[in-house]
Amino acid sequence: MKHPGFWKMLTVAVCMALLGCLQAQEHQGHVSIILLGATGDLAKKYLWQGLFQLYLDEAGKGHSFSFHGSALTTTEKGQEFMAKVLESLSCPKDVALPRCAELKDQFQQLSQYRHLKTSEDYLALNKDIEARVQREGLWEAGRIFYFSVPPFAYADIARNINSSCRPGPGAWLRVVLEKPFGHDLLSAQQLATELGSFFQEEEMYRVDHYLGKQAVAQILPFRDQNRKFLDGLWNRHHVERVEIIMKETVDAEGRTSFYEKYGVIRDILQNHLTEILTLVAMELPHNVSSWEAVLLHKLQAFQALRGLQKGSAVLGQYQAYSKQVRRELQKPDSFHSLTPTFAGILAHMDNLRWEGVPFILMSGKALDERVGYVRILFKNRAYCAQSEKHWVTDQSQCLPCQIIFYIGHGELGSPAVLVSRNLFRPSLPSKSWKEVEGQPGLRLFGRPLSDYYVYSPVREQDAYSILISHIFHRRKGSFITTENLLASWVFWTPLLDSLVHEVPRIYPGGAENGHLLDFEFSGNQLSFSQQQLEQLVPGPGSVPKPSDFQVLRAKYRESPLISAWPEELIAKLANDIEATAVQAVRRFGKFHLALSGGSSPIDLFQQLAMGHYGFPWAHTHLWLVDERCVPLWDPESNFQGLQAHLLQHVRVPYYNIHPMPVHLHQRLCAEEDQGAQTYAEEISALVTNSSFDLVLLGMGPDGHTASLFPQSPTGLDGEQLVVLTKSPFRPYDRMSLSLPLINRARKVAVLVMGRMKREITTLVSRVGYEPKKWPISGVLPASGQLVWYMDYEAFLG
Ligand code: BG6
Repeated sequence: MKHPGFWKMLTVAVCMALLGCLQAQEHQGHVSIILLGATGDLAKKYLWQGLFQLYLDEAGKGHSFSFHGSALTTTEKGQEFMAKVLESLSCPKDVALPRCAELKDQFQQLSQYRHLKTSEDYLALNKDIEARVQREGLWEAGRIFYFSVPPFAYADIARNINSSCRPGPGAWLRVVLEKPFGHDLLSAQQLATELGSFFQEEEMYRVDHYLGKQAVAQILPFRDQNRKFLDGLWNRHHVERVEIIMKETVDAEGRTSFYEKYGVIRDILQNHLTEILTLVAMELPHNVSSWEAVLLHKLQAFQALRGLQKGSAVLGQYQAYSKQVRRELQKPDSFHSLTPTFAGILAHMDNLRWEGVPFILMSGKALDERVGYVRILFKNRAYCAQSEKHWVTDQSQCLPCQIIFYIGHGELGSPAVLVSRNLFRPSLPSKSWKEVEGQPGLRLFGRPLSDYYVYSPVREQDAYSILISHIFHRRKGSFITTENLLASWVFWTPLLDSLVHEVPRIYPGGAENGHLLDFEFSGNQLSFSQQQLEQLVPGPGSVPKPSDFQVLRAKYRESPLISAWPEELIAKLANDIEATAVQAVRRFGKFHLALSGGSSPIDLFQQLAMGHYGFPWAHTHLWLVDERCVPLWDPESNFQGLQAHLLQHVRVPYYNIHPMPVHLHQRLCAEEDQGAQTYAEEISALVTNSSFDLVLLGMGPDGHTASLFPQSPTGLDGEQLVVLTKSPFRPYDRMSLSLPLINRARKVAVLVMGRMKREITTLVSRVGYEPKKWPISGVLPASGQLVWYMDYEAFLG
């Protein structure tokens, strides 16, 4: 009779042996790495060195490798180039010289150049790899194709790999892609769809090399390992602001054909800085090493990002840029580029953790220094009664509290994590990060280095080497998935579109920039701190400033017309609304304001939200002029626009907010639900004589106003105060105040902005009372006042 534990032990032994076999088999796997664009700049500067590092790290562990450099140059030239690059490879300091020479020699033997262009070339490569694996008695583990080529070449290469060079069953394929991944949301979607037709998501590794920078890669682990300190601190109650910065001294010379198409926002902010932003802002997953969890939380962070407005950005362009473009792209002397080479952006997250905390993203070429960092500056609520000389550095609560992930370069010259000593002593993985003494006399972010705990990597490694290793080990968390990429473009594209015609501020470059590029923020708006008194060179477009013009007062359809540049117009309207509100509250104790949706009033809402502290919000009732039949939380909902741009910033009592009841009994604008009647009753009950103090209207290019459209008689006359209507545009179903109700108002303001309104403005100026054709022409308050607010583009064209 065997001992009862015998069978258990036997099972364990068999399993161990099997596992051993499997591991041994794994160890024999052959990996082929094909570097496309092997003679390019990136390959020369980083990729070959990264591949060599991979070989140094992995070759001793049982895998076998072959490296194939390919480009479109002839075999002879390619070989010559590769020989030179391979000769210049270096080993880390801890590898002895003779050993290094030996390893380099092995690496050179395993690397060869090959011309890859046609599908036959890819077939031949496939055959060669298979033959070699067979000949050497190996089995194939996988293939890595590194695309270090411009994106226009992606499709052809992808097609060829997919049809002629996929490894056989059981072996993996990984394709590595370099940015740019599109130019805006649409092009990124197209590129993603195209690549998705050749590769599985699992097979694609989109590189953002900033995710390989040691300080950036440390953000999540740092947050994870220091949870006990950070849990209470990493939020809007404690964080004053976050700065995510990447400054460069180089300019775009030699790269203008690329740069002209992209500019600094697409080149740096949309990818590198946004990735960092999500790492700082995301909710920390329980398991930070699960890339799926990290991705999920990243996507949630994108969701919480508030949309950017034109005013969220300041743009600059270094003075020599246009000249470089003219020279490199053979443009005429008259050509001036509008491409920004400098951008500062103010972002906000609309979630409970970060609400109200400014996230500043900034990058530029031709600046005074090369440096990258993320700085989290904490609020300081302490007051120290003793004089400064009695403050002991690591105890004083009066010194600034900050955490900095120092990406590299700058005064420190290397990556680091800095934590103010008056915060806490951080914990970092001791194998890879060590605490260091700062150079005496060095100051960073306003404090001597001795004010911080400073940690730097034990072994400084280049981002590409790290990422290549992560590709090999399938650590997908360091790469950009399709969802992640598209989420970023969703965030950036509207801003990019709105800035197309924006004239950047010209700066001389380098130290001479002085304070020219300093900027400051207030509310959602960012602006340069210094007024630009004179252009250093004639700017790309010397556009007259709004303040060069007076507000124009005239008549339109026999009613007062106020016309100005958009900013002034909005400011004037906001002031007029406030004055009306103050007056109404003084006389009646309350102010009934009915607001329209759409894009024109957004700036007005923001202006009211941010710049009108005397507004009697506590006594204001807010009504909707019209609504789309969608749930109130739908981005298309007018109420949603009001909520996003006004309500969340001001203190209107809940019971004074009157959204239109378009979503009753879980359906939208059903006649039987009598939403329109309910709203009418609410108005009759609360608004004396159903006469609003102020109704804000817009005018559509077809002459519609509120949701009263041409050719649809509903709501133009009769008894009904609120009606259901049909729009010729999506969403078709609407609820609207009727013309008779609008015309009972004490005051009606019609806001008309933008060139697109030019034609209708002219037309409506000539027509009489014809609400069936142009509902706006029926706006004639019976005893109230009508005022038109038009910007110059709408009024003068
Ligand atoms: C690249 C940009 O992504 O990053 C370049 O295209 C920029 O314009 C470069 O110079 C900066 O990278 P690093 O690693 O030098 O900070």
